[in-house]
Amino acid sequence: MKPYALATTVLASAVLLTTTQAQLLPFLHNSKPATPNTDNRQQPLAHQPGLQMPNDPPNPTVENSPATQTASVTLSDILGTYRNLNTFAALTRDVHTINTRLASSSQNTTVLAPSNHALSLLPRKPWESPQDYSKLGPQAYSGDEGRERADENLRRFTEAHILLCSPWKEGEKVKTMAGTEVWWEVRDGGKKVLMPGAVEVEKVVSRVANGEVWLLSSALNYAL
Ligand SMILES: *[C@@H]1O[C@H](CO)[C@@H](O)[C@H](O)[C@H]1NC(C)=O
Repeated sequence: MKPYALATTVLASAVLLTTTQAQLLPFLHNSKPATPNTDNRQQPLAHQPGLQMPNDPPNPTVENSPATQTASVTLSDILGTYRNLNTFAALTRDVHTINTRLASSSQNTTVLAPSNHALSLLPRKPWESPQDYSKLGPQAYSGDEGRERADENLRRFTEAHILLCSPWKEGEKVKTMAGTEVWWEVRDGGKKVLMPGAVEVEKVVSRVANGEVWLLSSALNYAL
C-alpha cells in the first residue's frame, strides 16, 4: 500500500540523512564541548577528525591489544572515530541518556557496537517493530505519533547495545541500558560470543578511561 511505503520511505530517509550527515560532517560532531575532565594538554584523538581510524597506524587492533588511550579520554571522544561502526555511533548521538553515559567519568560502560555491515543486514529497520505493525497496521509510523514511536524504538534498540559496566568478565550477567541482560562466553576457536543469541564479537576495538568498545558481527536480538 502507498501510505505505508511513503511513511517508511520518509522515515528511512530521515535515518539515512542522519547517518549521511554524520559521515559528511565529522567536524560538526566532534565540535561538541569537551568533557569536563578532559585534560587540555593532551590531544584526544577525537580532536583530529581527519583521522578516521585512530588505531590505524602504527598498531593494527587485535583482540588482545585494543587501542588503549590516555586516562582522560572517554568513550564519547572516540566512538565516532571508527569507520566500521560509525552508523551505530551516529545512532547513539541522538539518544541523550547514552550521550551522558558515554561522557561520564564516574560510570563505566561497554559499548556493544554492531558493525555498519551488521546494521545493513537487519531484517527490519531498528525503528520498526512488528508489534506496532500488528497493532496499528501500515500507518504505524505516520504522523507525529508515528515519528515518536519510531524514535522510541530506535532509542530502545540503541540502549540495548549499551552495557552498564566495564570491565566485563566472562559469564558475568549484566544489564544493558534497555534493561535486557547479557553475558559472554568463549566458543571453540577462542571466539567471544554474546549470550543469549551467540552474537559474535569481532574484536575489542578500544579501551579508554570509562570503558570499552566491542565490535559485533550482528546486532543483538531486539525482538520483544
Ligand atoms: C572503570 O574502568 C577502569 C578502566 O578499565 C577500571 O580501572 C575501573 O576499576 C573501573 N571502575 C569500575 C567501577 O568498574
